[in-house]
Amino acid sequence: MDKLKRMWSFSGIETQKNKLTFKNYNAYNTATEEAKNTAIKYFKSFKQIRTTRKNSIAFLGQVGSGKSHLSIAIGLNLLSKGIPVIYMSYREQIIKLKQNILDEEYYEACTRKFKTAQVLIIDDLYKGKLTDSDINITFEIINYRYMKNLPIIISSEFTVEKLLYFDESIGSRILEMCKNFTVEIHGKENNYRLK
Ligand SMILES: Nc1ncnc2c1ncn2[C@@H]1O[C@H](COP(=O)(O)OP(=O)(O)O)[C@@H](O)[C@H]1O
Ligand SMILES: [Mg+2]
Repeated sequence: MDKLKRMWSFSGIETQKNKLTFKNYNAYNTATEEAKNTAIKYFKSFKQIRTTRKNSIAFLGQVGSGKSHLSIAIGLNLLSKGIPVIYMSYREQIIKLKQNILDEEYYEACTRKFKTAQVLIIDDLYKGKLTDSDINITFEIINYRYMKNLPIIISSEFTVEKLLYFDESIGSRILEMCKNFTVEIHGKENNYRLK
């Protein structure tokens, strides 16, 4: 129990996010149904696919469609099975990393945490103004995980084409890793906040 608690707090998932469960995700049309089913299927397959190349999942597209919700729901379920998960709020962490790019020790420790996490949630990939150092930092993390077959749970408002357009070497690695579990949601009718 203590171990679970420690894992939870180390994960970086704030406790108020414990409501972001599969159960609390309402599948009210085909798009949300598919998103939810894919998330659950991923969680159920996790043990078998964990160490393979295609061990990751991506939720892409429409703002407010529950991409972060489902990413965290998977994370919570993995944590409850004793699998350590690290949550990375992309924009927040990228800003911190860029501010500390000259502080080698901080930079190394922080990137190492995201590179080597057993499971990494990257929430809102490419949020914010994209610079060369954003791309470099992102590549460092994604490529490490790609080489070591370490799973990533990604949410981003950008489509597959956009991910490839921003940076093809990062985008193509992500797409390969998420090949069997990629959900793209389109349409304002899927913005839960507008309901
Ligand atoms: N289908 C859904 N059922 C229940 N709540 C949802 C659903 N989709 C989104 N939400 C809720 O709406 C809010 C926005 O969802 P979020 O996951 O942040 O969207 P996104 O990351 O796609 O922008 C959150 O509070 C989330 O829990
Ligand atoms: Mg989000």
